[in-house]
Amino acid sequence: MDLLLAFITLILILGSAQGQGNLAVGFYSRTCPNAERIVASVVQEAVRADPRKAAMLLRLHFHDCFVQGCDGSILIEGNDQTEMHADGHQGLGGFEVIEKAKAQLEATCRGVVSCADIVAMAARDSVALSNGPFYQVPTGRRDGRLSNKSFAAQMPEVNEPVQSFKAKFFQKGLSQKDLVVLSAAHTIGTTACFFMPHRLYEFPVFSSDPTINPAFLPELKKICPEHGDINTRLAMDHGSELTFDDNIFRNIRDGFAVLESDAKLYTDPITRAIIDSYLMDFVFKPSFAKDFAESMVKMGRIDVKTGSQGEIRRICKSFN
Ligand code: HEM
Repeated sequence: MDLLLAFITLILILGSAQGQGNLAVGFYSRTCPNAERIVASVVQEAVRADPRKAAMLLRLHFHDCFVQGCDGSILIEGNDQTEMHADGHQGLGGFEVIEKAKAQLEATCRGVVSCADIVAMAARDSVALSNGPFYQVPTGRRDGRLSNKSFAAQMPEVNEPVQSFKAKFFQKGLSQKDLVVLSAAHTIGTTACFFMPHRLYEFPVFSSDPTINPAFLPELKKICPEHGDINTRLAMDHGSELTFDDNIFRNIRDGFAVLESDAKLYTDPITRAIIDSYLMDFVFKPSFAKDFAESMVKMGRIDVKTGSQGEIRRICKSFN
């Protein structure tokens, strides 16, 4: 009997230790019941004032998760050696929105809600505010204690081959479907011309990427002229940059993709088939909204720190 009791106790201890490592929907329901509401209201206010913030906050979560896991390491200002200063993170924004939500959360429930979770919730709220799906975000992430720009080599770069995107996503536990579905986050937001010269003027053999629709090429070149201002920005989902929808897939198929990475997804047979599946004229076609939500939750679990790992930062831009 004693042996059985000891065995059950052991199972319970192991079970709870394992449970600690897991994220959970409603993680703050007892410790900070208004956490999600506070983040949502700060994000809503920011997006109302400037609709472009939604895209920035969505991208911020991706960049946080891909380097060192979703642990808020992208938020650390520090010196010019921290993660946010890496070339691959150029153009990131929305930091002040996260910091504002954090300040309100600290005033309500001090030392409870991590910056990494705020980033994940803000990304979700941004999608919903742009007419995209609303989904439950499992929370319980802890903030990392390391942030170094050398780790940013893990970020996919816009001119890489599709195989390399696949490999980088695979390393993070994400599939080819996740790659396609998550890249479709480019349904909102803009890119700087900085990312365009290779596609428009330096493409091997043809000088411009031959997958660009000839009706679209002059428009792209006009917005981003050769040796022009690299900071000029253009919509990534031609004609629908503020609405979260599946139009980006149609644009990719028809040669209206703006980013080279998006266009490349239509040159590989597998990723192309995944794109086509969302464009089928068929009642039982897969739901982009549902799949996007699922892939976001999956991305949000990359190498998270939980339990007693890491810390809960007091302010998001610096370690405690
Ligand atoms: C192969 C993978 C990807 C590549 C190469 C890539 C590349 C880029 C580039 C070059 C930009 C323009 C940045 C700028 O000029 O500010 C951008 C913007 C953006 N990316 Fe990605 N991205 C990828 C995947 C993702 C994923 C997985 C997400 C989110 C789930 C995402 C969300 C966004 C958003 C929302 C923007 C717009 C940002 C804004 O308007 O400020 N991207 N991406």
